[in-house]
Amino acid sequence: MTEIILKNKVSASGNVLVITSRFENLFGLPDKVNDYIQAELKKEDKKTLTYNYIGKYISIIIVDTSKEPKALAEHLRKHGASVADGINLHKGTEVFIYNQTKFHNLSLAAAEGLVLGNYQFSKHKSKFKNNTLKSVVIVSSGVDAHRVNDLNNVCKATAWARDLVNEPVNVLNAVDLANAFKQMGKEAGFKVEVLNKKKIENLKMGGLLSVNAGSVDEPTFTIMEYKPAKAKNKKPYVLVGKGVVYDTGGLSLKPTPNSMDQMKCDMAGGAAVGAALYAIAKSKLNVHVIGLVPATDNRPGFNAFAPGDIITMMDGSTVEMLNSDAEGRMILADALHYAKQYKPELTIDLATLTGAAMAAIGPSGIVGMGTATVQQKEKLHESSFNVHERIAELPFWDDYNDLLKSEVADQKNIGGPLAGAITAGKFLEKFTDYPYYHLDIAGPAFIPAKDGYRPKGATGVGVRLLFDFFKNQ
Ligand code: BES
Ligand code: MN
Ligand code: ZN
Repeated sequence: MTEIILKNKVSASGNVLVITSRFENLFGLPDKVNDYIQAELKKEDKKTLTYNYIGKYISIIIVDTSKEPKALAEHLRKHGASVADGINLHKGTEVFIYNQTKFHNLSLAAAEGLVLGNYQFSKHKSKFKNNTLKSVVIVSSGVDAHRVNDLNNVCKATAWARDLVNEPVNVLNAVDLANAFKQMGKEAGFKVEVLNKKKIENLKMGGLLSVNAGSVDEPTFTIMEYKPAKAKNKKPYVLVGKGVVYDTGGLSLKPTPNSMDQMKCDMAGGAAVGAALYAIAKSKLNVHVIGLVPATDNRPGFNAFAPGDIITMMDGSTVEMLNSDAEGRMILADALHYAKQYKPELTIDLATLTGAAMAAIGPSGIVGMGTATVQQKEKLHESSFNVHERIAELPFWDDYNDLLKSEVADQKNIGGPLAGAITAGKFLEKFTDYPYYHLDIAGPAFIPAKDGYRPKGATGVGVRLLFDFFKNQ
């Protein structure tokens, strides 16, 4: 894991990322080099410049500090990621961020991009050139050590979430996922309880059990709790994450190669919930948060639930299960019902729930909807833009409930071809009695190509969003 540290001096031999609104040579480059850089920057009004000086990698980025702060931060994260690539190419191990502006958060954003962009999932490769970059030094007396610590925690949490999502189902099944949460709890200091199949049966979690029926692996239901002594909130926040460790579609089998290949990513919501709790606990935020992750694989094994089955859910309501590929809502419904006992201030679920959400806005953002209060929604949306895990909200009108009507049960698990992301959300709403927000991360959870500091494959989306949301509570 790449570590961010604070120092008050640039080492003369170190690689440097200079953030400036007007380049000044303050770190002792020879006049000749400085003159060259100044001339280059003037030419064509360049905004970035890379220069290799006796084995030292120098990257200069000229920023317009009058730009909107959130956009500027994102600009620096992206630049940080490209600098990480450059330094790895030169086999560098360390980089100094030297910020000539008075905006300290720009150093943090660049560091975040460097670390997140430096992520690799290489553990299953026997011959692999690992990145050489190991540490990112922020040079500034003005940056708060506290914020560096928080940033390290959330970057580590994001990398952990990515690792879990990148891990295939033959390596990470529902029990393994629960064990990973236990390890997170142990390292960061929060409580983790894992319910096994027997307990899940005793609780009559019909939704989770129905999805698990076609699998040879047992389901798990993980309950995580971080409750600091000085928590600011009286009622807890509850986070619910979809933990489908693999989604074949079940008997409503997905076609491969185009839609099943990436389905190891279907526990990305669960991974984000565990990792967010890790970052929150590790940074000792003063907020009481509970995380719930129902987990199983979705397979067409012998007793697999069959289209037409009527399932009695944990809350006693019934679902006509017409498509076994709409499995996420089945397991989340029981978790949302389970959450009622906590009388939550707000419950947020994260789920790679629908292809429709992905089709609507692609990998650029998260589809959101729900019954949360206007203030809660505003805060979530604000955080989503702070960390560039942007939420686009869809309507949550009751009209859509009509699409879920069933002739034989309380509702169907599919709503038909229209408004697929919304009908999924409206299905889930029936299992809530508290302020609720649903985040469909199907688009951004797992991406086909590297995009700045988001690597190909798992992105860890949701972790930074939740951390920022709770940090600002
Ligand atoms: N896990 C999928 C959704 C998904 C699609 C996630 C693409 C990531 C990328 C989900 O379980 C699913 O299969 N949804 C169905 C629902 C439909 C049958 C109502 C879908 O969106 O096609
Ligand atoms: Mn599915
Ligand atoms: Zn799924």
